[in-house]
Amino acid sequence: MPVWDADQYLKFQRERTQPAIDLAARVRLESPRRIVDVGCGPGNSTAVLAQRFPEAELSGLDSSAEMLETARESRPDIHWFQADISSWEPETQYDLLFSNAVLQWVPDHETIFPRLMRFLEPGGVLAVQMPMHYDSPLHYHVKELSTLPEWYEQTAGARQALGSESRSFYYDLLAPLISELDLWETEYIHVMENVEAILEWFRGTGLRPYLEAIPDDRERARFEAALLERYRAAYPIQKNGKVLFPFRRLLIVAYR
Ligand SMILES: C[S@@+](CC[C@H](N)C(=O)[O-])C[C@H]1O[C@@H](n2cnc3c(N)ncnc32)[C@H](O)[C@@H]1O
Repeated sequence: MPVWDADQYLKFQRERTQPAIDLAARVRLESPRRIVDVGCGPGNSTAVLAQRFPEAELSGLDSSAEMLETARESRPDIHWFQADISSWEPETQYDLLFSNAVLQWVPDHETIFPRLMRFLEPGGVLAVQMPMHYDSPLHYHVKELSTLPEWYEQTAGARQALGSESRSFYYDLLAPLISELDLWETEYIHVMENVEAILEWFRGTGLRPYLEAIPDDRERARFEAALLERYRAAYPIQKNGKVLFPFRRLLIVAYR
């Protein structure tokens, strides 16, 4: 689990929040009473929920004190609390459990998804968005680079930090537990200023476990430089100098 940096994460706030907007828009609940944003981060996805369901009692859960501090500053009126999704035992049932760009950091989906479904009122919704692009150049190159002998051992844990299963896995897991399900994938094509911006994006999320695993500053810089070189070859520059950064995501809206 990396140490989170809210400022770094929010450098691409608009792009990172769009899937939360799209996910919230697909939740067909008239007036949910109690909502929790599971892995609320700095509160950007919680703000989307506040706008979509202004009458609801809203709370945000995260394991990172740093993220929660930023969230609290942005919206002191929302109830924020620290918990680990894997061990969290809520005191109440929810009408909506919302989780945008979080569960890929949490292992054992076979246990976690049914567990979260149990925290819902009958008719309640589990809405989840997770990246689904581990075969993309972004991930392929960092993994490949990290398996060179000079990095291999220290980055072993980082290679395991992120993950998700197939759409078929989630369907089979959820089908016995639900009354209805919306399942879809979207590839967002982010327009980046240059290839460096892709690395900058990744520093806010999936690159963090690798950088934390390499304690020496100079070594870290060398790792990033080698990665950037690979990204330059993988992401072509458009006629106007910008770079297209495709990012595939899986979205799930499951009704209990
Ligand atoms: C990529 S951010 C997503 C933030 C926000 N939901 C959004 O839509 O942009 C992932 C967040 O999940 C949190 N997280 C990861 N694993 C967690 C866990 N096991 N329990 C609670 N929070 C976790 C991290 O602390 C981080 O704030």
